[in-house]
Amino acid sequence: MNNAEYVELAKKVLYGNYRPAPVAFVSGQGCVLVDADGKRYLDFAAGVAVCAVGHGHPDLSRAIAEQAARLVHVSNYFYNAPNVELAAELVKKSGLAQAFFCNSGAEANEALLKLARRHFFAQGHPDRNRMIAFHNAFHGRTMGALALTGTPKYREGFGEVGPVTHVSYGDLDEVKAAMGADVAGIIVEVVQGEGGVLAAPAGFIEGLRAICDQHGSLLLIDEVQTGIGRLGRWFGYQGKVMPDAIALAKGLGGGMPIGAMLTSEKVAAALPPGTHGSTFGGNALACAASLSVLQIIERDNLCEAAKSRGAYLSQKLRQIAEGLPGVCVGTRGEGLLQGLVLKPGMVARDILGKLLDSGVLLTAAGERVLRFTPPLIVTEAEIDRATEVVRAVLGDLRPA
Ligand SMILES: Cc1ncc(COP(=O)(O)O)c(C=O)c1O
Repeated sequence: MNNAEYVELAKKVLYGNYRPAPVAFVSGQGCVLVDADGKRYLDFAAGVAVCAVGHGHPDLSRAIAEQAARLVHVSNYFYNAPNVELAAELVKKSGLAQAFFCNSGAEANEALLKLARRHFFAQGHPDRNRMIAFHNAFHGRTMGALALTGTPKYREGFGEVGPVTHVSYGDLDEVKAAMGADVAGIIVEVVQGEGGVLAAPAGFIEGLRAICDQHGSLLLIDEVQTGIGRLGRWFGYQGKVMPDAIALAKGLGGGMPIGAMLTSEKVAAALPPGTHGSTFGGNALACAASLSVLQIIERDNLCEAAKSRGAYLSQKLRQIAEGLPGVCVGTRGEGLLQGLVLKPGMVARDILGKLLDSGVLLTAAGERVLRFTPPLIVTEAEIDRATEVVRAVLGDLRPA
């Protein structure tokens, strides 16, 4: 089948909750994707910051194939080897104490929410259940994660969720004003990804830690988009604070569906047996894939690569912004989570189709940010090629 045939069939049989571009991908290698018509693309979306080691990585493919042949799934009634080994590896890298595995970012945040509420319930404070989250934050689409998500349009039509108080990202005074004895925790992204590639101002995350300590609330960090090397270090909080718990997904499985909550000793007793779980969570196949991703990142120094390639990409984007002042207002981001900010009134999503036609995959973040999240294995030559296409496409948009 070709692209057109896939699109025609998809429109009939797939539920209409997405707005996919009219291409069907059939294979990939490194940062390159190939569609059903045989056209090649540079993938600077990486499945929305997921494919950390690129497409078709030989070591990851081998790990998945070997594990699939050995053992796929046994459930959490028993231990399985890759699951325990992955937990040990994440504990070692994060400095946190324990891991709970699930299947997505939203599920990892649901776990954080349940952890925070249950922690205070177990301490005799069942009414301590309010969360503080941030405007423009994105934490996922399930009802609990949706409650935390700080964009009202995502919550519209789904009824009462919460209690969550949303305050301005970066504003410690607003956070202080919103605190109270009923606040179980603060949940925050180190860089707001979906919200527009907005990094926390210097001292903000540290300030949240201090406020949580003062009020006895938990500091929960959503590292779904920022974790697993993307910012140039294993986790975004490193070098800033020690959180009480974090959420991971996306890059963790390199494309295999897996999420995780990592927790500190402080909250170890919050979710005893029977209070939370997942049939597929910690599945042997997903955990073996994740172990392979962590090994590749470590062996090939991909955290360091994310830092240096991120700086190179950022410099290229800055040149585009400076050269096209009628279209761009600037750049922002950290590591290989970079954004090119368009002028007010422009809609980033509307440009993605033209970029795709020209052979580059990007995503939009917020209303007017083009988001660049290539695989951590991206080369400078690929950055040169992709940014040249972006410059040309944006150049054509310039008002005549
Ligand atoms: C920071 C953050 N948290 C949570 C999620 C939700 O993850 P998932 O789509 O795997 O449920 C996302 C997805 O974009 C995210 O960026």
